[in-house]
Amino acid sequence: MNKMNPFLSVTALLFCFFLAGCQTEEAVQVSSPDGNITARVFLMDNGQAAYTVHHKGEPVIDKSTLGFEFLDAPPLATGLEVTGTAIRSFSETWEMPWGEQRWVDNTYNELTVSLRETGDLARESDLIFRVYDDGLGFRFSFPDQEHMQEVLITEENTWFNLTGDHMVWWTPGDWDIYEHLYSTTPFTEINALEKRDHPNLAQTYIPVNAVNTPVTMKTDGGLHISFHEAALIDYSGITLEIDADNLKMRSNLVGTGREEYKVIQETPFSTPWRTIQIAERAGDLIESRLMVNLNEPNKLGDVSWLEPCKYMGIWWEMHIGKSSWDYTDDRDFESWEEAEPHGRHGATTENAEYYIDFAAEHGIEALLIEGWYTGWEHWIGHEDREGIFDFVTPYPDFDLDKVTSYAKEKGVRLVMHHETSAAVTTYEEQMDTAYALMEHYGYDMVKTGYVGTIIPVGEYHHGQWMVNHYMRVLEKAAEHQVMVNIHEPIMATGLRRTYPNDATREGLRGQEFNAWATDGGNPPEHLPIVAFTRMLAGPIDYTPGIFNIKLDPYQPDNQVNTTLAQQLALYVVIYSPMQMVADLPQHYEGHPAFQFIKDVGVDWEQSQVLNGEIGEYVTIAREERDTGNWFLGSITNEDARQLIIRTDFLEPGEAYQATIYADGADAHWDDNPESYHIESMTVDHSSEIHLELAPGGGAAISFREQPPGQTRGLWPGAPW
Ligand code: NOJ
Ligand code: CA
Repeated sequence: MNKMNPFLSVTALLFCFFLAGCQTEEAVQVSSPDGNITARVFLMDNGQAAYTVHHKGEPVIDKSTLGFEFLDAPPLATGLEVTGTAIRSFSETWEMPWGEQRWVDNTYNELTVSLRETGDLARESDLIFRVYDDGLGFRFSFPDQEHMQEVLITEENTWFNLTGDHMVWWTPGDWDIYEHLYSTTPFTEINALEKRDHPNLAQTYIPVNAVNTPVTMKTDGGLHISFHEAALIDYSGITLEIDADNLKMRSNLVGTGREEYKVIQETPFSTPWRTIQIAERAGDLIESRLMVNLNEPNKLGDVSWLEPCKYMGIWWEMHIGKSSWDYTDDRDFESWEEAEPHGRHGATTENAEYYIDFAAEHGIEALLIEGWYTGWEHWIGHEDREGIFDFVTPYPDFDLDKVTSYAKEKGVRLVMHHETSAAVTTYEEQMDTAYALMEHYGYDMVKTGYVGTIIPVGEYHHGQWMVNHYMRVLEKAAEHQVMVNIHEPIMATGLRRTYPNDATREGLRGQEFNAWATDGGNPPEHLPIVAFTRMLAGPIDYTPGIFNIKLDPYQPDNQVNTTLAQQLALYVVIYSPMQMVADLPQHYEGHPAFQFIKDVGVDWEQSQVLNGEIGEYVTIAREERDTGNWFLGSITNEDARQLIIRTDFLEPGEAYQATIYADGADAHWDDNPESYHIESMTVDHSSEIHLELAPGGGAAISFREQPPGQTRGLWPGAPW
């Protein structure tokens, strides 16, 4: 359903205006369909393009200039003239093959300002602003032209001039990894350089005082704004460099140690969209679909082969040190018969069958098996990386044929694992074979990983060379009908709309840090921040569901810093189409709260953020596709909280059986994290549920339509 709206295109007028404190400058403007957000584009006296953004008449971005620097050409900045302007409006509703909701409204007004240099080079570009009710994106588009063929960008000077010393939730602008804790400080106190030398990171590079995106802020007036980018294709990722004295940020593109430029392109090309989400209510940031809307529609055609799922893993047991990825401590052996097994290998045939049995019995659709192929003995604790992993040769105690047939027989899908150890060239050489093996054995999901500094040396995880690598993997996976879950990824930028097999990724400090980090793990505020920052980019493989919170007896110095009830709530709050059931089977066996994990959906008809404040708490309700069941998750930081939930999201006239998994009265993330209780009640769309969240706690609720005549306690499979 595509429709142009002639009314909007007539009302979005071209006009001149006076900017406070400036000379008269000719400006063109475009407003959001609801009229609340306005972007203005104009030329400064020196002929440089600049823009402002207003929300309900108040400035959000003050006058900010735009421009580019090149290796072998003069900068493109001043001396421009406007050769044309065009405004159009667009509206469609498109269907997500999987997602937080089925139908997405994509309605915007778009302004294109065509620019040309007045000097000899006469370089041309289009500056495009798309303004939605929930924010905007802008980009440069360069046509094919005589004086701009190959383009070597050394810097993109996109400025964001703020209007105050906003509160900011930020991670350092690391070119190599996003696995940092968030800091909450006023803008003027951002100091990313203090975050260098992280003890738990195999790779990190923070060259200047910059932040990674999405970065979210709150103004004194209570407005929420978040900065990121959409449609990052064949370009390097962005960081935002902080100019604290002037309350400004400037794009600082991720570079490469192998070249003097940061981006190499050829005209015609467009930059990624530079995005600003704007919301009065913090929860509206999460409901915003700006990222996917700014990407092109599905390019893969029929994607009915994509199936969201919950998956278990021979995984957490390695992170808590119960077993290991490698098979032997030996390194020098001629043949596998000679290698002495150390007896702690996790990916054995027997262990895989044990997990498959458990998954099959409890209706968990899939199983990830890490450490099944050779090479880990050369990598873990060593630095051999190139040519080590081939992704096809099983360890002697892992019978690939047997495990895959057993899984098939039991109806459990297997998730392939490709830890590349960031030896990316090796991976590229192996990819054809590795994906052919997956197709042969019927794998339809892969988890990839990129731990360590990138080989080729000099490249960074977030630079253009790697952006292109991640894209090659997506395309290769699509050829084989495989969904991808990337660890140590490039940040999501909404590309899942175009490549729906781009399912989920890490790209944050995940649950695994709780298993082994030497800095105390992820504090209770971590996920209430993540929901309003990292999650705006796209789905997260956080790996929730740890029930053995104190990791007893495996990791006496580590623990998960939430209550058990919060672990359940994460299945709803932290969105992923591949949602892990991360703990060991023995910690779920016979546990009444496991029922929620078995029941909870992974693919949603709609999602509503009921309440929330960044870094404090958030409650999300989601309706499962095809069943009409609803699920709700609520999480809090280290503060206890009482929340009243109005269930007006439920279908009017229907009765629902609500099963509430809540913190026990004495629960506390540190002192008593596993205290919980389960309660059931009949509710409808006019009910109120009172939740008491413990410090670091949460609550999870399933709402299932109650057939007429059913009463409390009779629901089949109910845990009470
Ligand atoms: C880091 C990933 O984040 C983790 O999930 C994986 O188990 C290890 N690398 C080993 O590949
Ligand atoms: Ca990781």
